[in-house]
Amino acid sequence: MRQNIVAGNWKMNMTLQEGVELATEVNNIVASKGANCGVVLGVPATHITEVVKAVDTAKVSVAAQNCADKVSGAYTGEISASMVKSTGAGHVILGHSERREYYGETNAILKEKTDLTLANGLTPIFCIGEVLEEREANKQNEVVKTQIEEALFHLSAEDFGKIVLAYEPVWAIGTGKVATPEQAQEIHAYIRSVVADKYGAEVADNCSILYGGSCKPGNAKELFANPDVDGGLIGGASLKAEDFHGIISAF
Ligand code: 13P
Repeated sequence: MRQNIVAGNWKMNMTLQEGVELATEVNNIVASKGANCGVVLGVPATHITEVVKAVDTAKVSVAAQNCADKVSGAYTGEISASMVKSTGAGHVILGHSERREYYGETNAILKEKTDLTLANGLTPIFCIGEVLEEREANKQNEVVKTQIEEALFHLSAEDFGKIVLAYEPVWAIGTGKVATPEQAQEIHAYIRSVVADKYGAEVADNCSILYGGSCKPGNAKELFANPDVDGGLIGGASLKAEDFHGIISAF
């Protein structure tokens, strides 16, 4: 069954103490008010263990924002998927456009990261999306198709079924310039059709496809109302419990 999900991506924000406080607030709101969707907090690696302790992970899953493309060994500064798993995290955000742009992550690297994430029983939240020039040249479909094909289409149908996709148009990230509900629906439906062509209608129908990019309490409802938009990956608005809850309660 396709799941609606609202996932926060804190990016490189919050000290450990601030992060634990925010996670505790989110957890308390979800515990008292409930949530009609899965809730995930994508926190800095240094915070995962403490955030896992601060929340009820049955209700609020904790995600790493990245993991290594290697199993273990002499890779100073890297954090492996098995290390992430050992903290009690449930998800890993992979292929965020900031990692692609600033840290040179290619589809080939992301293929390795995806495999290691799945091999360790973690759920990848796999980000795809075009930059402004590609959108202006009407190349967005081509771009997301290549990203999915090169990083994910080696997977079996069973493993692909464990992936959460997040469509994040780069021009909408942190810019306040949100995709219109029509733009989001159009490309989410296209992404689902790409998955259907490869894995069949059932796998495609069960795949959660989140929208990310300036999603806020004020626009979440109209974005999530679309049949192919199954929630959001939230940056700025995930840094305040009240805003994040405003988005969760759009479901
Ligand atoms: P904003 O919600 O701040 O635009 O960030 C979106 C994002 O990049 C989530 O991964």
